[in-house]
Amino acid sequence: GAAELGPYRHYMQKEIFEQPRVIGDTLEGVTGIMPELFGDGAYNVFKQIDRVLILACGTSYYSGLTAKYWIESVAKIPVNVEIASEYRYRDSVPHPNTLVVTISQSGETADTLAALKHARSLGMEHTLTICNVGTSAMVRECKLAYITRAGVEVGVASTKAFTTQLAALFLLTLSLAQVNGRLTDAEEEQHLKAMRHLPVAISAVLALEPQIIAWSEDFARKENALFLGRGMHYPIALEGALKLKEISYIHAEAYPAGELKHGPLALVTEEMPVVTIAPNDALIEKLKSNMQEVRARGGQLYVFADVDSRITSGEGVHVIRLPEHYGLLSPILHVVSLQLLAYHSALARGTDVDKPRNLAKSVTVE
Ligand code: G6P
Repeated sequence: GAAELGPYRHYMQKEIFEQPRVIGDTLEGVTGIMPELFGDGAYNVFKQIDRVLILACGTSYYSGLTAKYWIESVAKIPVNVEIASEYRYRDSVPHPNTLVVTISQSGETADTLAALKHARSLGMEHTLTICNVGTSAMVRECKLAYITRAGVEVGVASTKAFTTQLAALFLLTLSLAQVNGRLTDAEEEQHLKAMRHLPVAISAVLALEPQIIAWSEDFARKENALFLGRGMHYPIALEGALKLKEISYIHAEAYPAGELKHGPLALVTEEMPVVTIAPNDALIEKLKSNMQEVRARGGQLYVFADVDSRITSGEGVHVIRLPEHYGLLSPILHVVSLQLLAYHSALARGTDVDKPRNLAKSVTVE
């Protein structure tokens, strides 16, 4: 009811603003990296596996895609990420030394549960879940688990469940790296420090809300939008596009910016807003030339840049600066700004933000 919403207009907005706290809750008590964060026997499991298979649906699938970038880069273990409904019905090549990771807010999504059973039927017994409901079928079915502490998520469009999944997946990345001899004590300390600082860093992104509201007036009048990202921010572009289409009903697509020339550039006109996730990382110069390709066709750029990047506002280029560049954890910050953009665009269009048409909070039937 209204009392529970406090100062917020919708559960989605409330849940977006809860993120500093629930990420803190999810990481509470983590004083060091160790496989046992995922349950008894995790060390032996992590020792035996030499590849990872992530299975999930919807927003949870995008947290899995982000984790692929982290795990391959930090732990040096190959990762496949599959949409659960595809994996369960296709012929794949199983390997017993696989860590099967399911990701689910509810722990009850029918396709993800069926994909897990399918993996097991193929002889893959090392199972781990990142899940927000400790009593769910998913947690019962998996050997290992990390329970995120997002709390109850009411908004159909997932927000705080996603960022807490990312926090848990980063812990998994570091734990796998450690067992694989890829994490020095100094690196562990540095990562833990960055994780502890996340609530403050996210609060600083939330403070950008007024600037994002100003942009949402433009978006509310559009019927299409393109989202661009590169590297580990490509899955964040996908999630930003999903949020916008789910609740504002604006058609949105995400592309890895390097693919522009292979199709989406044909759609770019003055009418096309192009949201660009532009963290100050190794790909920034490449991204800037992708942005010029968009500008040359008249496309309107809406850029989320980091504080120290030299991207400036100008004709057809709107820039909002995130307060700090956050290295490997940067996707967790950038997605928060995209959640706010989707929320306020939907609000401006007057849609039912918490209960978008035709969608359900959890899909427990096929
Ligand atoms: C539905 C929800 C999404 C969610 C997806 C997967 O589509 O609307 O927000 O990401 O299911 O749900 P799960 O509970 O498995 O994460």
